[in-house]
Amino acid sequence: MKHLLFFSFILALVYSTFSNAQNNFSYIGVEQCVMCHKTEKQGSQLSIWQNSKHSKAYETLKTEKANQIAKEKGFTTPAVETNDCLKCHASGYNVDKAMLGKKFKVEDGVQCETCHGPGSAYKDMKIMKDRALAIQNGLIIHESLEKFCINCHNAESPTYTGFEFEEYWNQIKHYVPKN
Ligand code: HEC
Ligand code: HEC
Ligand code: HEC
Ligand code: HEC
Repeated sequence: MKHLLFFSFILALVYSTFSNAQNNFSYIGVEQCVMCHKTEKQGSQLSIWQNSKHSKAYETLKTEKANQIAKEKGFTTPAVETNDCLKCHASGYNVDKAMLGKKFKVEDGVQCETCHGPGSAYKDMKIMKDRALAIQNGLIIHESLEKFCINCHNAESPTYTGFEFEEYWNQIKHYVPKN
């Protein structure tokens, strides 16, 4: 019993820390990130993302096919209004609008901040240039890229047919060129 209580306490602590962190940082939108991550010299992150299916992930939920899938899964709402679809296809849909940057668009689907964390506090040049400081301000760095992808690319996806990390990463990687 004692152990259980202690465990619950730790859980509550972890949870409150986590949700506080979430509350402090808000989504600002792709447009805000790509002021500095757009040109060839910077690494063409904007066009790579625009040409990837991630940028269409929300729009995909508006299709007849998506609604059909949602219906077959037993959901009574259109796919684009179903949280169990949105959770892998979008960001910010479950956030109070007042907490979202003016330029943030849920329609941008799986966007920069879906993978890198809400950017309101790390977007400034001085912070961005200092990796440790950026992380303190909400930038998420992934230890294992593959593990990160599998958060969404897994059998819970109704259309899942498998995930090949190398092949998939090659389609979306967007490195800053080293000179
Ligand atoms: C004012 C310019 C600016 C803005 C706005 C900006 N960045 Fe950056 N970002 C930089 C600079 C400069 C670096 C570090 C140098 C480099 O590698 O280009 C960087 C680095 C990064 C890195 C690499 C971090 C690392 O150490 O691995 C990521 C990821 C990133 N930015 C994502 C974003 C996202 C997402 C947004 C929007 C929420 C954003 N940036 C907005 C300038 C900016
Ligand atoms: C937040 C959830 C999420 C994460 C995390 C995620 N993806 Fe995706 N990904 C999606 C969704 C949703 C689609 C389908 C979009 C569509 O077709 O509308 C997709 C599609 C793709 C596609 C296109 C596949 C095809 O059918 O042509 C590639 C490639 C891809 N992702 C690579 C990756 C890689 C590599 C990672 C990890 C670095 C990753 N994704 C992380 C949600 C995610
Ligand atoms: C666990 C994350 C996840 C959930 C939940 C999810 N999806 Fe997806 N969805 C993906 C990924 C990843 C892809 C890219 C292809 C693949 O691996 O299935 C995708 C692709 C799609 C596609 C395009 C596939 C094609 O071949 O045209 C549709 C349509 C779709 N999802 C609809 C839905 C609907 C509707 C729901 C809710 C009932 C849903 N998804 C829930 C992750 C998810
Ligand atoms: C599906 C998830 C996903 C999306 C969407 C995404 N990124 Fe990334 N990005 C990653 C991952 C994972 C890495 C880590 C690469 C590494 O460490 O090798 C990365 C790396 C970066 C880097 C650092 C590159 C380097 O050379 O170290 C920058 C800058 C960046 N992303 C900016 C952006 C911007 C801007 C957008 C939106 C236009 C964006 N990303 C969209 C997953 C994503």
